[in-house]
Amino acid sequence: MQEQNTHKRSIRSFVKRSGRLTPSQQKALLELWPVYGIDYSGVALDLQGVFTNPGSVVLEIGFGNGETLVQQAVESPEKNFIGIEVHEPGVGHCLLKAREAGIGNLRLLAHDALEVLSQQIPLASLSRVNLYFPDPWPKKRHHKRRIVQQDFLDLIAERLETGGTLNIATDWTPYAEYIDETVSRSSRFTCNESREHDGDQPLDRPRTKFEQRGLKKGHRIHDWCFRRSTD
Ligand SMILES: C[S@@+](CC[C@H](N)C(=O)[O-])C[C@H]1O[C@@H](n2cnc3c(N)ncnc32)[C@H](O)[C@@H]1O
Repeated sequence: MQEQNTHKRSIRSFVKRSGRLTPSQQKALLELWPVYGIDYSGVALDLQGVFTNPGSVVLEIGFGNGETLVQQAVESPEKNFIGIEVHEPGVGHCLLKAREAGIGNLRLLAHDALEVLSQQIPLASLSRVNLYFPDPWPKKRHHKRRIVQQDFLDLIAERLETGGTLNIATDWTPYAEYIDETVSRSSRFTCNESREHDGDQPLDRPRTKFEQRGLKKGHRIHDWCFRRSTD
């Protein structure tokens, strides 16, 4: 039997950002979490049981305010979407957007994505993983907190189906160089497509909130689609 990569890591890729929940976000967490939320349990999910349609499953790590995630779920009703985010106001915002859109093909987890992936997402169960504008951790002493690491790539590769993709975007050029180097050292992925642009050519995704911020600061955008290598 194939063993799950437990990805034990004490360093976290996030710090809980401050930010108060608005009253409507608070209400959404109470009323809409039972509809869209999955509580972290550490037990592998039965994804066929989680979703009512039998479509493929796309997972987004660190969805922020979730607007991009909801837009993708609206645009692809034949697919199922899982979003993972630790920032509570973002989760509340995403719940409100999901209700507004009236979608049924979305579920959320509010927990460290690395733990969710290693404990709850079955092997070879995802068609695509999206990682849009991950925290760049620019200081050298913080590079170890960057989510893109060799063991992260292994964790994702094991949870993607054959032919599945890992789609990444960043507006931080030093992180882009680091991502290029890190993924090229991994035998688990090959680069299907990459592009650098001024926000006008997002690679098969909507524009995100953090992308918008980066563009206002004059940053260039880097996008990749990495395909899981066949075993
Ligand atoms: C820079 S923001 C980008 C948000 C969004 N993707 C966008 O482009 O607007 C990165 C997000 O990833 C989340 N994050 C970082 N590490 C995470 C982890 N291990 N598990 C869940 N969320 C994480 C942070 O809370 C933050 O909201």
